[in-house]
Amino acid sequence: MNAQRLTGDLLAKFVAMAIAGGIIFSGVFAADLDKLTASCASCHGEGGTSTESTIPTIGGMSEQFMIDTMDIYREEDRPCIEAEYLDGEKKGEKTDMCKIATELDDEDIEALAGFYASKPFVRAIQNFDTDKAKRGKRLHDTNCEKCHEDGGSSAEDDAGVLAGQWMPYLEQTFKSYGSGKRVMDKKMKPKMEKLSDADKEDLIHFYGSLQ
Ligand code: HEC
Ligand code: HEC
Repeated sequence: MNAQRLTGDLLAKFVAMAIAGGIIFSGVFAADLDKLTASCASCHGEGGTSTESTIPTIGGMSEQFMIDTMDIYREEDRPCIEAEYLDGEKKGEKTDMCKIATELDDEDIEALAGFYASKPFVRAIQNFDTDKAKRGKRLHDTNCEKCHEDGGSSAEDDAGVLAGQWMPYLEQTFKSYGSGKRVMDKKMKPKMEKLSDADKEDLIHFYGSLQ
């Protein structure tokens, strides 16, 4: 066997192993991830910190929450509100989260989930009512803290971060849970259903008060 042939064989072997082990063809390359996050940033802001009160901050959400949420959008189990790209190449074009989630493959979503989970959740600076926030804290502690730990600030689980999220976004979210358009966690449902509209408002002010 000559040297050239040997090198060729080894190379073929290495490629086969690399494919089997997923070394070469798995993973999203850094340049692709940059492109994806730039497109998310045109609505969700740099690092997922939203400056638009109807668009949620996503930086600091857990990987699990992001992966689950994208599945929910793919299944259209929550409303997909039409939104416009605020800047970048597609500025002014309209789309929605269901379309966006459907266009991404699982690897893109995993890479995005890792990226946003590594960012801090930067709380929104917004106006709130102190009395409503106080009542909201009590409602939260008895009904919601079990899954939305540390006043809704923990990203340790699959429930998303509520503390410091934009209040107009939260208001819209309570409405879509209330109307049944956004499918709810089975154990969250009874807790939500016993809340009055005033209770929901108090909770929104509580989450908004955490800055
Ligand atoms: C054209 C604007 C726009 C773009 C681009 C966009 N989003 Fe969104 N996103 C929204 C809006 C508006 C909502 C909230 C309303 C809804 O659920 O439809 C949202 C909601 C989300 C949520 C749910 C957050 C929560 O707290 O439940 C996640 C996660 C998300 N987007 C991730 C992404 C990722 C990742 C990208 C990039 C691949 C992206 N979005 C691109 C507008 C956008
Ligand atoms: C048994 C666990 C559980 C309880 C109790 C619970 N939740 Fe949730 N909550 C979840 C899970 C899981 C999700 C994420 C799934 C989803 O997107 O609907 C979620 C999501 C949410 C969201 C959407 C977050 C986002 O970023 O879009 C809001 C708002 C919310 N919960 C509010 C509440 C409030 C208010 C209470 C108390 C009245 C409560 N939850 C009680 C498990 C729970």
